[in-house]
Amino acid sequence: MSPTEAKDRIQALTAELKKHNYNYYVLAMPTISDYDFDHKLKELDKLEKEFPDFADPDSPTQRVGGEVTKEFVTVKHRWPMLSLGNTYNEQELIDFDQRIRKAIGDNFEYVCELKFDGLSMSLTYQDGKLARAVTRGDGTQGDEVTTNVRTIHTIPKKLIAGSNYPDLFEIRGEVFMHRKAFERLNKERVDNGEVPYANPRNFASGTIKLQDSAEVARRPLDCFLYGLYTEKQLFKTHWESLQAVKEWGFHVDDHSRLCSDIKGVLDFINHWDTERHHLSYDIDGIVIKVNNYSQQQELGFTAKSPRWAISYKFKAERVETELLAVTYQVGRTGAVTPVANLKPVLLAGTTVKRATLHNADEITERLKLHEHDTV
Ligand code: IVH
Repeated sequence: MSPTEAKDRIQALTAELKKHNYNYYVLAMPTISDYDFDHKLKELDKLEKEFPDFADPDSPTQRVGGEVTKEFVTVKHRWPMLSLGNTYNEQELIDFDQRIRKAIGDNFEYVCELKFDGLSMSLTYQDGKLARAVTRGDGTQGDEVTTNVRTIHTIPKKLIAGSNYPDLFEIRGEVFMHRKAFERLNKERVDNGEVPYANPRNFASGTIKLQDSAEVARRPLDCFLYGLYTEKQLFKTHWESLQAVKEWGFHVDDHSRLCSDIKGVLDFINHWDTERHHLSYDIDGIVIKVNNYSQQQELGFTAKSPRWAISYKFKAERVETELLAVTYQVGRTGAVTPVANLKPVLLAGTTVKRATLHNADEITERLKLHEHDTV
């Protein structure tokens, strides 16, 4: 094969395999068999060895972890990772708005963002490359989980060349798992006789804490970024920084909106209270942030959280239905799981008909639940 042919073939295979990785890890919807994927990966690996000059440093042959670390290193955060004050009602939001007006006057804007239900992560980039990923931990220091975070395909290992990023910065966001991937992997766990996770958030956080990054790579995670931290202030507003980091290659959620007053914020909240069920991932509320950085500084922080932001949490939905029967499901490994068959009921945008009873003892011993009871 001539060098030109090799170069073309390497580029084509790299692009194709990246696409398959995306389908597999992010969408959890592979369109190629494992066998065909491995075959192409081997071909690429062979060509890269023969023509190393044409290999992409971020090639699919270089990705998936595989390292087993014994434990995580503790890292101190350069900027503390605070939490947000939260509220479940509109009046408290109106009070929040009043406090802000009192402190900085009426001339300001809010950014409304979805509150992703995952785990927060702080990423450090040095010279355009992902240097470190640290969990929130206790807010002052967290676990260094870089090897695991490297398996997340939407987190750039290298930023888009030519985009105007600073030499050193930290960016924060939420690591989460899409509901489809959660359902698929949880079903796999049940089939294997393993305890399933209660929700995608727990699955994501359990995954990030694994010691085996090959297993992490098998479990598709995603990450939305929502906070830029730099030594020197680069932008005047949070909104501008969101637009910029998108251009640097980060996955920024497109549902965020600028709102000129609390009325706009309440409209945004009401829209997402029902619309959230159509997203492919879970959100548990809305985050409201004062847009302008100097106004944020003026407002400052309490011991635990910023005064310039608040989260509005959605109430978990509850419904009642009838337990029709308990049946038993036999997994691939022979593990038996009791299943509650329910009178179909609409909950959180889906019709619930069945629920696996992993805590069967609890259900029969403590709750003394019987068929035809209301649950
Ligand atoms: S901003 C100082 N924006 O919610 C404020 N947080 O209760 C930093 N979260 O620890 C957080 N979506 O894990 C922010 N769009 C969003 C968010 C978000 C989810 C999480 C994050 C944070 C927690 C606060």
